[in-house]
Amino acid sequence: MALFSSKSEGMMGIDISSTGIKLVEIDKVRSGYELKSLAVVPLPRDAIVENTIIDSMAVSQALLDAIEVARPSTRNAAIAVSGNAVIIKTVPIATATEFELETQIEYEADQHVPYDIDDVYLDFQIQGESAEDPGSMDVVLVACKREVVEDYQLVLSEAGITAKCVDCAVFALENSAELTDEHSVIDTAAQVLPDEDAEVHALINIGANLININVLINGQMAFVRDQFYGGQNLTEEIQKEHGISYQAAEQMKLENFSGVNPEAIERFYVGLTSELVRSLDFYSANHAEFPVQKLLLSGGCSLIPGIATELEQRLGIEATVLRPFPSIQASSRKFDADYLDKIGPMLMMPIGLAMRGFDS
Ligand SMILES: Nc1ncnc2c1ncn2[C@@H]1O[C@H](COP(=O)(O)OP(=O)(O)OP(=O)(O)O)[C@@H](O)[C@H]1O
Ligand SMILES: [Mg+2]
Repeated sequence: MALFSSKSEGMMGIDISSTGIKLVEIDKVRSGYELKSLAVVPLPRDAIVENTIIDSMAVSQALLDAIEVARPSTRNAAIAVSGNAVIIKTVPIATATEFELETQIEYEADQHVPYDIDDVYLDFQIQGESAEDPGSMDVVLVACKREVVEDYQLVLSEAGITAKCVDCAVFALENSAELTDEHSVIDTAAQVLPDEDAEVHALINIGANLININVLINGQMAFVRDQFYGGQNLTEEIQKEHGISYQAAEQMKLENFSGVNPEAIERFYVGLTSELVRSLDFYSANHAEFPVQKLLLSGGCSLIPGIATELEQRLGIEATVLRPFPSIQASSRKFDADYLDKIGPMLMMPIGLAMRGFDS
């Protein structure tokens, strides 16, 4: 499911986020996928704030730089939206004919989307029979403000790129997570039943200022939430602790935290844990019978040494960092294997977007 998507031969996945642009192009090969091109280009700190493009010139320029570095074979892209502009809701809808379903969905969207329906892109997907409301179908509704999508399309078109697919960040993550051994592909037709065998995974992407959470029961989305917290908070803690500039603090962080007072890191973890607990509590309030068994981490903050162990201890739930390579093959002539291995968890989002080009 995507907010909109026009069928396209090959697309690159572009993650336009607060710290930079991540461009990934993959190919389908007999044994799975292969990395074709890659670029990670930083953005100035105020170019995108809380998911809103502030400096469109800087973003377009970074996109052009990414194209120059990656030299992709296409100018078609899949991008993602997340944060406050996106509304994702699962609603039970009494089984109806296709026509009735359409009217019913419009009605539900009107109830759940706090914007004028004409001002949003709307999509839906039928998940299957509702566990809570037998006789009804669970339908996932997705809406995103048109102006947000259009802002992204504009910066892309200034860099000669066409957005063929606009996805939700949490769905893109679901896609790439399925490639990894930690989140094996589950038959999505499987019913959600109160079953001790159910597999309950929380995909948690922690970026610089946004956490995208997606809890899946047997591969079916059960809860999604975006929260504003992330690596930026850690950099700010280091900045305060050592009385240095944001840039200097960021650098200390990226240079393996050398010289960083552990108290700054502790404060970040306290904040992060309380954000995650808040979301997981929300989830459990409606799904007490399906406790989360595993946290699957991605995003730049998953590169913080030891983060999985920290979260495991603080939340009491097993945690692992998702690594897309070597599930995705990469030629060692074109790419540095150590570099890919290191930044892989941060590329889960653009990889999930690039996979949209192969959706059947
Ligand atoms: N090796 C590392 N160690 C610690 N933190 C890191 C490392 N590499 C990146 N980060 C942090 O990860 C964050 C960037 O992650 P990511 O690229 O996922 O964010 P983003 O997608 O640009 O941001 P957002 O989605 O929140 O707008 C930054 O805060 C950065 O400092
Ligand atoms: Mg991001």
